[in-house]
Amino acid sequence: MRQTLNYRVPVEYVPMKRLVILISGRGSNLEAILEQIRAQGWPIEVAQVISNEPNAAGLAVAQSYGVPGQVLPSKAFVDREAYDLALAQRIEGYQPDLVVLAGFMRILSPSFCQRFAGRLINIHPSLLPAFKGLKTHAQALAAGVVLHGCTVHAVTPELDHGPILAQAVCPVFLNDTVESLATRVLEMEHQLYPNAIAGILSGRFVLENGRWIDQGVSEFGGAFSRWHVHPSL
Ligand code: GRF
Repeated sequence: MRQTLNYRVPVEYVPMKRLVILISGRGSNLEAILEQIRAQGWPIEVAQVISNEPNAAGLAVAQSYGVPGQVLPSKAFVDREAYDLALAQRIEGYQPDLVVLAGFMRILSPSFCQRFAGRLINIHPSLLPAFKGLKTHAQALAAGVVLHGCTVHAVTPELDHGPILAQAVCPVFLNDTVESLATRVLEMEHQLYPNAIAGILSGRFVLENGRWIDQGVSEFGGAFSRWHVHPSL
């Protein structure tokens, strides 16, 4: 029988990939990303964390990992276009391979989305296309669904609508509250998002003509799964 050899390039010889992460608040996804980069030894540098909110707790998370953070307050700009232009210029200064929205609570203008097309992703706390927008856990409970979860998708001008890369699924229990369900989904987010980011930066997943393509190989080695399942399922 023919033996299959895995000639992956040792991670220490893979050029560093650069990330910019945008936040507005708590920063638990940011923390999960930074933790996994450290734990897995992925060749990823978080070049900058940018918050539109001066009091975002996530800025302290960045600092605790030695990652530079800054505030670009949205309130200081006359309109969305002006803010997004300033934000885009800041981001470009760090030459990121990928721009990651991690609880960035602003709608981005079409020109911003087009400028970063193919290198702008978001995590949304529902199994898209169900439950777009806000209060997704309340929406899920009101709809009476049995399964819920989160989605990593490319960002396009239409809200919570871009091509889906990865999803994680968890059960909804009959006695769930918004809080208990949110906690369960957030744990899944923390598994899914770092994995999806590394999958993209490693060259395994590429967005082409509005569709994700699986290249089958990853510069980082390792398997990057597009689906994650809660252990109770
Ligand atoms: C997460 O639930 C994420 O899916 C949504 O905003 C929340 C951000 O939480 N887009 P955190 O700031 O990462 O803790």
